[in-house]
Amino acid sequence: MQPKLIIHGGAGSSLKGKGGVEAVRRSLLSILETVYSSLLAGQSAQDAVVQGCQLLEDDPRFNAGTGSVLQSDGQIRMSASLMVGTTQRFSGVINVMRVKNPIQLAAFLQQQPDRILSDVGALELVRELQLPPYQPLTEQRLQEWLQDRQNNFQRSMADVVAAGETTPEGRYGTIGVVALDQAGRIAAGTSTGGKGFERIGRVSDSAMPAGNYATAHAGVSCTGIGEDIVDEALAARIVVRVTDGLSLYDAFDRSFQEAQHRQRDLGAIGLDATGNIAWGKTSEVLLAAYHTGERMGDTLEWHGDARVGHP
Ligand code: GLY
Repeated sequence: MQPKLIIHGGAGSSLKGKGGVEAVRRSLLSILETVYSSLLAGQSAQDAVVQGCQLLEDDPRFNAGTGSVLQSDGQIRMSASLMVGTTQRFSGVINVMRVKNPIQLAAFLQQQPDRILSDVGALELVRELQLPPYQPLTEQRLQEWLQDRQNNFQRSMADVVAAGETTPEGRYGTIGVVALDQAGRIAAGTSTGGKGFERIGRVSDSAMPAGNYATAHAGVSCTGIGEDIVDEALAARIVVRVTDGLSLYDAFDRSFQEAQHRQRDLGAIGLDATGNIAWGKTSEVLLAAYHTGERMGDTLEWHGDARVGHP
């Protein structure tokens, strides 16, 4: 079967100026091409998702891994999860610190009896796996935090991308990858530095089935305000609808109609086992890119009232 792939680097208000859009597009398309080549070479959906999340975490432009935003106490705590559709198995880490690729921990936990670890447990796992201590802080994120501290943390979320030009109100970061491999298997992965400036101990949707979910029929990764995503149980809601027989597009459409009605601020990407790809947003922009097998495309300049799209 022809592999399919969709990735995202967050959602938010607008990316100001061509410079911002082009830089984000270059990052997303380069990662998309690399991961799609791996899928074409026979890589499993699970490994492709881990590879894609790692590349997005390593890009300081996005709010996950290197380039994660700081919490209210000036610390970086990251969350990531992986869900494999064929086994319908979820694993993840919540609020882990000083590690380069949180998605690696989620991947390791796939085969463990205890599959979701939070702060102390996640740190203990980092030590157990002998991963080198890593500082994901970038100068840009530090400056943003210092500036926001001066404004007494008035913002509700950090910027969607760290580098490039963003409007002051452009905010929500998280990265995600959903893949369908040659054997027809689906996997979904999501990773984040959180909303930024949040209270210590706040738990992100990215390491919950609300923000990242897959079955043998479909997979979805979400971005946006975690509390809104949790309230909608968005990833699970869309995937279960597809699993119960709704088309991917209709499942996105119905779920985003409901989310918009409740004035949520979020976005999502997904694909199904027959190779359909879809995305949706209630926010102004969604930073997503996809590979259909025939062509690559992105949603960076997809504005306006449309809630849901497909290639
Ligand atoms: N969606 C990322 C977060 O709210 O933590």
